Amino acid sequence: MDAQRFDERETIVTCQEQRRAIDGHLRFLEWLGKPLQPGARVLDFGCGIGQAVEILLNMGYDVHGVDVVDWWRRDDYWDKSYLPQARVTERLQCLDESNYRIPFPDGHFEFCFSDQVMEHVRDHALVFGEIMRVLKSDAVSVHRFPGPNMLMEGHLFVPFPVLCYYKPYLAMWAILGRRSPDQRALTWRQTLASNVEFMGKVNYPRKTRLRRYAAKAGVEIAFLEKQELLLRDFGNAGRLVSRARRLGLDRLLAGVLAPFAQRYMVLARRALGPGDAGGSGDRCNARATQSNRARGHFLQDKAKMSKRGVLLRSWLACSSLLKGATGCGGLGSHIGVKERS
Ligand SMILES: C[S@@+](CC[C@H](N)C(=O)[O-])C[C@H]1O[C@@H](n2cnc3c(N)ncnc32)[C@H](O)[C@@H]1O
Repeated sequence: MDAQRFDERETIVTCQEQRRAIDGHLRFLEWLGKPLQPGARVLDFGCGIGQAVEILLNMGYDVHGVDVVDWWRRDDYWDKSYLPQARVTERLQCLDESNYRIPFPDGHFEFCFSDQVMEHVRDHALVFGEIMRVLKSDAVSVHRFPGPNMLMEGHLFVPFPVLCYYKPYLAMWAILGRRSPDQRALTWRQTLASNVEFMGKVNYPRKTRLRRYAAKAGVEIAFLEKQELLLRDFGNAGRLVSRARRLGLDRLLAGVLAPFAQRYMVLARRALGPGDAGGSGDRCNARATQSNRARGHFLQDKAKMSKRGVLLRSWLACSSLLKGATGCGGLGSHIGVKERS
């Protein structure tokens, strides 16, 4: 990176953050029993201006980036501390939102990741389907992004993202003087207008909804926030968990913090199984164990879903019995309509 073109201190922070995020993904793949091989083809989905692409390129991977905006050709990207070089920009491609297609053949990549992108996506089912199409059949993609569970809306610096869709709530914080770093010079009215506009572009789907989109796209989905917290050492939650390791309390703390942490969503074409570790011998047995653990998580995630499914089905059955007995629409019929919508 050309240090003379921007403030060096800022660049170090930016690159370090991106570097840590990437290290976290690579560690996660190892834990999953699917370590990335040298030179592997990697896709940075929602690559922004391309910092992560440069980092992975320097690590020797055959990495490409896609985004719906060609930030690398414009001068309005929010992080002005980094300008990508030609060897990076030639690996970045802009996607056409009206004819959405990732410009690579089927089964091209060994790994795909995104950081802080899924909360900006409009059509998740379409995106999930496209990501799976360009991935090899046994590959996975991982996506870190904020959800409605977070304690703070990280773009606006206002607490509780779910409440940020309400204008009076945003107005209250703007009047109280709450500003993001780039809003410091704005009046409360200007802050409110910019926050309302921003919330119109960002969406925080619940996990149930993301699971529905994945089912629509025919894709396996799992949320592994606790495991991701145990493997990363950045961010407030990640740092706390790695400090708690010395006291042997990391798993407990990760479990407590995971519901409030960023989502860590894993997509795969099929549920992972012991065969995913591949090969034979001790090393592979160790990998198979890791893979089994991962599989356990995937299945656990699915088991939670099916428990809910059983509850819902029992409720529907009771309700239709009631309906039969009373001759009027019961609770179940109401739920049935809601589920279909
Ligand atoms: C907050 S930025 C994150 C950029 C980069 N991943 C990073 O960590 O610096 C979100 C990016 O997602 C891109 N994006 C939003 N919707 C997208 C979509 N459907 N497909 C690809 N990129 C998308 C945006 O244009 C933007 O560059």
